[in-house]
Amino acid sequence: AHVKGMSDGAASADNPRVGSDGKTPLLTTGGGHPVSDDNNSVSIGGRGQLLLEDFHLLDKLAHFDRERIPERVVHANGSGAHGYFEVTQDVSDLCKAAFLSEVGKRIPVLSRFSTVGLESGSADTVRDPRGFSVKFYTEEGIWDMVGNNTPIFFMRDPIKFPDFIHTQKRHPSKHVKDPDVFWDFLTLTPESFHQVLILFSPRGVPDGYRHMNGYGSHTFKWVNKEGQANWVKFHFKTDQGIKNLTHEEGVKLAGIDPDYAKKDLYNSIEAGDFPSWTFFVQVMSLEQAETFKWDPFDLTKVWPHKEFPLREVGRFTLDRNPTNYFNEIEQAAYSPAHMPPGIEASPDRMLQARLFSYDDTARHRLGPNYLLLPINRCPFAKAQTYQSDGFMQVGDNGGSGPNYYPNSRELWPNAPRPDPAQANPEPFPVEGGLAGRYPNKKWVDQNDWDQPQMLWKTMSKEDQEQTLSNIAGHLQGAQEFIQKRAIALFGKIDPEMEEGLQAILPEKKKSDEPYTMTA
Ligand code: HEM
Repeated sequence: AHVKGMSDGAASADNPRVGSDGKTPLLTTGGGHPVSDDNNSVSIGGRGQLLLEDFHLLDKLAHFDRERIPERVVHANGSGAHGYFEVTQDVSDLCKAAFLSEVGKRIPVLSRFSTVGLESGSADTVRDPRGFSVKFYTEEGIWDMVGNNTPIFFMRDPIKFPDFIHTQKRHPSKHVKDPDVFWDFLTLTPESFHQVLILFSPRGVPDGYRHMNGYGSHTFKWVNKEGQANWVKFHFKTDQGIKNLTHEEGVKLAGIDPDYAKKDLYNSIEAGDFPSWTFFVQVMSLEQAETFKWDPFDLTKVWPHKEFPLREVGRFTLDRNPTNYFNEIEQAAYSPAHMPPGIEASPDRMLQARLFSYDDTARHRLGPNYLLLPINRCPFAKAQTYQSDGFMQVGDNGGSGPNYYPNSRELWPNAPRPDPAQANPEPFPVEGGLAGRYPNKKWVDQNDWDQPQMLWKTMSKEDQEQTLSNIAGHLQGAQEFIQKRAIALFGKIDPEMEEGLQAILPEKKKSDEPYTMTA
């Protein structure tokens, strides 16, 4: 229905409402009422009190008072950009996802990179894992690849995750990062030492976000059109080459240029130097998984590349900066649970828990209708659900259609219906047994030290030296009994590490060099 005198086109950046001169975009209240003066509140005379009836002032202050939304509980500090993904190799024998169906096929992506522990706006160059998220807008719904720049993680049971994160954030009373709690938790969680070794190696402080790899880290399942499944791991190799910052460079930049990584990403895209990453998968058959030396669903372990070589899939390129950071990056809700048909979960316990946690936190951080925010909607796969209402319902809310199912076609001929032909997920066998709180049997039998031992041996002498110096520089801040426990555990990786740390720790204690975690 048209209201007389109203134009058809809504005001937009290209077609703004204009003031009385016929050309200057008109300032309005949040309700769209014209504003005559944005410098003076309505007052009684020149020096009198303000009037409660000044809606423009109240509206402006009230909106401002509510500008901050909860920041991400982890990975709060980050930046992101838009781009596209292109399939470069035929992987249809492995995965039925439509966006991978043809070489040359392109879809839009949104990437976000982050540090983990500290607040939004904290320094980009701290020693910390980096988040590596890619939102693929596919015709079958969104695929969120929510990974890190490391192929493994600190633990393999999610029940430890909140405690771990507390030790990476601020001390409960001192409100600073604290080497005691950092090392206390990790040395009591020795399965973390593979990731601790990566964290303190030169890769622990990447030179910006463009020069690091990304990993899905977990094992996922790929299913093809015939319903055949394989376990896969995702690798995104930087086409810019790996570049890291030394401890000293990281600390210095944290002081003089704390937004270093944000600027590097933004400026390179503005300059037309578009960063890209090549997407590979490692593939393990269900049979191979039965006899693999390590639990293939243990997030503290890699799959050796010799046994499970990388197979190329495609490449994503970032070529457009966000127009509005809050709308496009802060409001982006990544979730490992967002997977199109063909990409499925594995029994990795950490992944299982993450499948719950991300959408849960999004409902808290962004509200129950977070999936209606433009950045989280897939333009190629319209959502048709029976969900309705809730705070900030900004969609059509199902219009005049039914908000319940099952319903009769006679009453609701155009209502959406499930389609039994969609095998999603593909049925899969599960192990039975007694439910209880116990570790996977394989974890008890396998060796947790052989992988970090191999990693240490593959490092160059120079990288080994830097790693020892980075560890000692940080560990010197912890109490002696914790230092001893940590050094003994590093000794399990290599006696060289134990000896090296014992030798350099006293010097580090004497120097008052800052360590990168707090920088
Ligand atoms: C962010 C939980 C492990 C990568 C988050 C957020 C939560 C969370 C609640 C905030 C999300 C938001 O506010 O939008 C968990 C839990 C984990 C876990 C419960 C383990 C049980 C991991 C692992 C990885 C990872 C293993 C990488 C392989 C990320 C990334 C983000 C994130 C990249 C930032 C996403 C973005 O850019 O918005 N995590 N996480 N997390 N997590 Fe995890």
